[in-house]
Amino acid sequence: MIALACDHTGVALKNEIKKMLDEMGLTWKDFGNNETVSGDDYPVFGYRAAKAVASGECDRGILICGTGVGIGIAASKVKGIRVCTCSDVYSAELSKRHNNSNILTMGARVVGIDLAKMIAQHWLTAEFEGGRHQRRIDMITAIENGEEIE
Ligand code: RB5
Repeated sequence: MIALACDHTGVALKNEIKKMLDEMGLTWKDFGNNETVSGDDYPVFGYRAAKAVASGECDRGILICGTGVGIGIAASKVKGIRVCTCSDVYSAELSKRHNNSNILTMGARVVGIDLAKMIAQHWLTAEFEGGRHQRRIDMITAIENGEEIE
C-alpha cells in the first residue's frame, strides 16, 4: 500500500500518480489534500502519510507539494521516515538502493508529470541493497534516537 498526500499544488500530479499505481497493480491510500485552493498547510498532509508509513499501515509514501521540500521536511520529522526529495531518476533510484528511503517527495512546480511518473516508477521498483548501506542506515537511526555515532 502506497501512502499518497499533497497540498493544493499537487492534486493534479497526485491523480496522475494514482493512475500509474493502478496500472502497476499497486494499491494506494490518499491522505489528502484534494482541494486546489491555496490556504492549506502541507505539514498536515505530510504528517498523516508519514505516520501511516512509520506505523506499517503503508509500505511507502509519495508526497507532493510545490517544491517537494516542505512536505518532505514535515514527513522526515516522523521517527523511522527517510525522505528523498527528487527531481531526477538517478537520485530516486539510489535513494532506495542505498538509503532505503521510504518516502519520495516531488515538487509539482518543479517536475513535469511525465518526469514525475518516471521518477516514481524507478523509485518504486528499486530494491534496497543492504550490506554496508544497512550500517549507515543504522547510524542514521542512532542519530534519530539521540545516540552518539562517533
Ligand atoms: C505552497 O505555496 C508552497 O509553499 C508549498 O507547496 C511547498 O512548495 C512548500 O515547501
